[in-house]
Amino acid sequence: MNPVSLVAIDDNPQSLDLLAAALDGEDVTVECHDTPEAGLDAVLRSRPRIVLLDLMMPRMSGMDVLGRIVRFDPSIEVILITAHYTTESAVEAIRGGAADYLDKPVSIERLRERVRAIVGQIRRREDTQSTAGGAAGELFQFHGIVGRGPAMLDVFARVRRIAPHFRTALVTGPTGSGKELVCRALHDLSPAASGPFVVCNCAAIAETLMETELFGHAKGAFTGASQDRPGLFEYANNGTLLLDEIGEMALAAQAKLLRAVQNQEVQRVGSPAARKVNVRVVAATHRDLRAMASAGTFREDLFFRLGLIEVRLPPLRDRADDVPVLSRFFLDRYAALYGKPAATLSRRAETALMRHPWPGNVRELEGVLAYAAMMADSNVIEPADFPETFTASSPPPGQDPVLRMSLEQIQAYHARRVLAGAGGDKKLAMEILGVSRATLYRLLGADKPSAS
Ligand SMILES: Nc1ncnc2c1ncn2[C@@H]1O[C@H](COP(=O)(O)OP(=O)(O)OP(=O)(O)O)[C@@H](O)[C@H]1O
Ligand SMILES: [Mg+2]
Repeated sequence: MNPVSLVAIDDNPQSLDLLAAALDGEDVTVECHDTPEAGLDAVLRSRPRIVLLDLMMPRMSGMDVLGRIVRFDPSIEVILITAHYTTESAVEAIRGGAADYLDKPVSIERLRERVRAIVGQIRRREDTQSTAGGAAGELFQFHGIVGRGPAMLDVFARVRRIAPHFRTALVTGPTGSGKELVCRALHDLSPAASGPFVVCNCAAIAETLMETELFGHAKGAFTGASQDRPGLFEYANNGTLLLDEIGEMALAAQAKLLRAVQNQEVQRVGSPAARKVNVRVVAATHRDLRAMASAGTFREDLFFRLGLIEVRLPPLRDRADDVPVLSRFFLDRYAALYGKPAATLSRRAETALMRHPWPGNVRELEGVLAYAAMMADSNVIEPADFPETFTASSPPPGQDPVLRMSLEQIQAYHARRVLAGAGGDKKLAMEILGVSRATLYRLLGADKPSAS
């Protein structure tokens, strides 16, 4: 394999020498230019895979050069280097298409680490393209997230870009698509990785308790408040707070949340004292917050704040490439869990999985394979080893009623099936669905799908 081509642009020749020396021995060829014009010219001429770009240069700013490179070829990974790092400018650069943002003086270790991560990502893409369609691709995991199709590789690239810089981020996608895993990866790759990762399930907390849950309360703030208690923001100090199912949060709590996020300051209920915190916030939801904001059921200002940086997980039915690797991953995991030898899928079983519409996404796939791994008595899994709910819902493609259902309907449909599969046990169904009682009831109350 040829080394990855890299162009470095900086008006200071000494910085260029440093960069080139730092990358010596890495899997890259380095070409240096000390004016933005010459650098841009080199980029347009030789289409490098990576560009290191100084933000402050005479005549043309790095942001201008970035804009031109991104318009020329958005797949070029541009790392900006600046003497004036702020989270806001980093976020803006990444929204503008930069792959990364480093501050001067550049730490050689950090530069190598980031370039290595990008080179790894480029190599994986090449690998996926050369084995496209085949099952031969190696099992690739990005911080515990399995995937090899272009959609997930994009998600991984985005998480890698965002994690070092974000203060707030939004992770969206249908139920069971892996939002929680992505939120954890954002934390694990952030500078706060050694700090706490605190989860708040907004759907599980009664509207009246939300504020004390998030911000804590002072002794005597209300009946039963017998002592001071810190809230989740304080627990998450110097770490990350995951606000799961943020779409379920009441408007009043949203207003206070926005203030806490913006000011990095919280006030316990019943106490006048403001406390400084340092918390990254990741919000997750299967809902369309933009639509909710226009309908007035979600605060627009909070949506704009959270939605500045969004990671979108596509439904599993749109990532066929991932089904074989996810299957392999879950079969191995559950075989190990049950102390059985790892099984493989027959061709017919694999076809059935590829055709299924997966309304419950990866969580549903995991359930089907966990069941099959337990039930199969041979080493080869056949469609007959899949749970009845799965086989019953696999009509030939094109006639599948599921393909004509809205996400809301699919969720209600899936919730009812899970509840039936759990023998009517609501608690078990809540656990399987990963939702609160309130959400389960809401789902069960939703309209029956017209198509089934
Ligand atoms: N790409 C993946 N690789 C491995 N496991 C995955 C992947 N995506 C999801 N899973 C697994 O599927 C299950 C559901 O994932 P997760 O809890 O992250 O979904 P979610 O998007 O948060 O769903 P919900 O909206 O219902 O909360 C988990 O057991 C998770 O480990
Ligand atoms: Mg979740």
